[in-house]
Amino acid sequence: MEIAYTKVSLQRLLEPHRRRGRHIAFVPTMGALHDGHLALVDHARQLADVVVCSIFVNPTQFNDPKDLEKYPRPLEHDTKLLQQAHCDILFHPTVDEMYEANEQWYLDLGHLERVLEGLHRPGHFQGVTQILHKLFDAVQPHIACFGQKDFQQYKVVEHMVNQLELPLTLELCPTVRESGGLAMSSRNVRLSATGREQAQQLHKTLQQTKADLHRKTLDSLCTDAIKALEGSPGIEVEYFAIFRADTFTAADESARNEQLVALAAIWVDGVRLIDNLLL
Ligand code: PAF
Repeated sequence: MEIAYTKVSLQRLLEPHRRRGRHIAFVPTMGALHDGHLALVDHARQLADVVVCSIFVNPTQFNDPKDLEKYPRPLEHDTKLLQQAHCDILFHPTVDEMYEANEQWYLDLGHLERVLEGLHRPGHFQGVTQILHKLFDAVQPHIACFGQKDFQQYKVVEHMVNQLELPLTLELCPTVRESGGLAMSSRNVRLSATGREQAQQLHKTLQQTKADLHRKTLDSLCTDAIKALEGSPGIEVEYFAIFRADTFTAADESARNEQLVALAAIWVDGVRLIDNLLL
């Protein structure tokens, strides 16, 4: 695996591949890699000739400076994992390489920025689109792979790609879970052993919601899910909602024959966890 620390050196590494007309797949990450990321690299490998992975802890998408500071950065271990996963190129730029001082960015994300993650993490998706626009520009991939765990992020990226007519295809890859059902996340390392067990209730509740889909109204599915989560030790619920997967708008009974998705954010051990399930 080759490593590029600057956009110029990334271009130098990619140029021979582009000249040969090779297809490039891109997996953007913030590092602290786990099996979920490695599954994205595997998926990318199957779709393209060259796999580029980025590790960049993007400051503009953190609302809480403490969260940014505490974000794990096990670079040596990450590099080994990417090598083992047969990633071809790792792009690992510094903040100064990616951002000018006092840079401004705004992309109209419509309602996507006013619901769920957008509502609870103001400015987060502006930061995500700001860095992804730069990364897409640097890598110029044919395909970019994202995990379903961050379903709203995927919808936001899809919106940006459509709005700016970016010439790439997006791939949504299934969430990878630990044996107890907890969705893999770089934040899971901050959970205590007890917290990790308590957090398993989130996937169980999403599964129960799916099982009850045709037995209850959408409203009572949400109310019951919140009750189940709040009644479970160690969990505080931030939101639980059922949305239309396509338009990412709140679903009512008239949406029953559309693809629905249940989404939730909870706090366990002071760690914010999100997950979702297509119903
Ligand atoms: O999902 C992530 O890890 C980040 O939001 C991303 C897409 C790498 C942008 O910084």
